[in-house]
Order: sequence, then structure tokens, then C-alpha cells
Amino acid sequence: MSVSVEKRHCAAIEEEDNQQYKIKRINCVHFKMTKKILMICLGNICRSPIAEVVMVDVVAKAKVSDVVVDSAAIGSWHVGNRADPRALSTLQQHGLKSTHIVRQIKKQDFDEFDYIFGMDEENMSELRRLAPKGSKAELLMLGDFGLPKEKRIIEDPYYQRGAEGFEVAYQQCVVACQAFLQQRLQK
Ligand code: 4NP
Repeated sequence: MSVSVEKRHCAAIEEEDNQQYKIKRINCVHFKMTKKILMICLGNICRSPIAEVVMVDVVAKAKVSDVVVDSAAIGSWHVGNRADPRALSTLQQHGLKSTHIVRQIKKQDFDEFDYIFGMDEENMSELRRLAPKGSKAELLMLGDFGLPKEKRIIEDPYYQRGAEGFEVAYQQCVVACQAFLQQRLQK
């Protein structure tokens, strides 16, 4: 039997000094002790690339090691592209940067990642439908961590005019990623 290992580039944190960290993209397939987090949204150009970068930032600032983060789409429309310019400028306003290139979720992700996060109920039902029976990943909605019930859905800002919806999604991601870190990664 032959086993093929697919190249997968996740964001991992490389510490430079006390205040600074650098993101390197690594093939995380071989990192068995590492906690692996995958952020999902419909297109992988608005919410999930923001969530990916925010989770990396929150983890790095808390000096939690052995965590890698990636993101992917439910749909294939934007595969190969970078994040929406409004997502990139929102991140830039907060001193952050995305180098992610859009990819679509695949069956192997459900066994490779420990946590797969959706942003809304539609993402969650798609994830449940796609997950192979008995696969490893825990399927979670990001906003279920730290956000009040009425704000737990991270709404899709793609079709909104302007960038305000991106800032709202960013702020939701910060609260939710910090809560997830405290509840699950720092235990
Ligand atoms: P996202 O937003 O799921 O937050 O990346 C979307 C981006 C593009 C599309 C839908 C949602 N689209 O249909 O192209």
C-alpha cells in the first residue's frame, strides 16, 4: 500500500524576541504533537482568512506553542486567490497581514485537523455533511466562544458595500479566538 502525504502549508509561529513574532508557513502534516486549527467560511476570502490571522496573533501573544492554523473554503470560486482587499486592509489597520492563498476544504482535513471552525450555521451544516464518519476533527462554530448569543454568527461581509462588515468580523474573531485559547489551548 502506498501512502501519499500531501503538502499543506499552515501558519506557525516563530518567535524572534520577547515582543516580536514571525509567521512561517510549514507543512503541518508531520507535526503530530501540534494542535491544528482550520478556519472555514464559504469563500475563504473574507472571514476565515481574518480568523486564521487573528488566531495566530492571539496564540503568539499568549506564547502558546505547538499550534498551527490554516483556513479553507466550502466553495471553489476563489481557489488560488488572496483574501479580499477589504479583509487585507482591515488586518493591516490592526498591524496584521495575511499571506494565505485560497484553497477548498477536502476530506483529509477532517482527520488532519483537531478543530475545524465554521463562521455561521450554513458553514456548520456543510461541515457536518462533508465530514467522513468517525473523523477526528471537532466541528465548532467560532462565535460560540466568548460571544453573546445574539452576536455568535460571524456574518458574511462579502456582499456588503464598504469594509465595516470586515471590521465587525475582525472584532468578533478577536473575542472568540481569545476565549477559545483560554478554554481549550491553555488548559
Ligand atoms: P467568505 O465570504 O465566506 O467570508 O469568504 C464570501 C466570499 C465570496 C463568496 C461568498 C462568500 N462568493 O460567493 O464568491
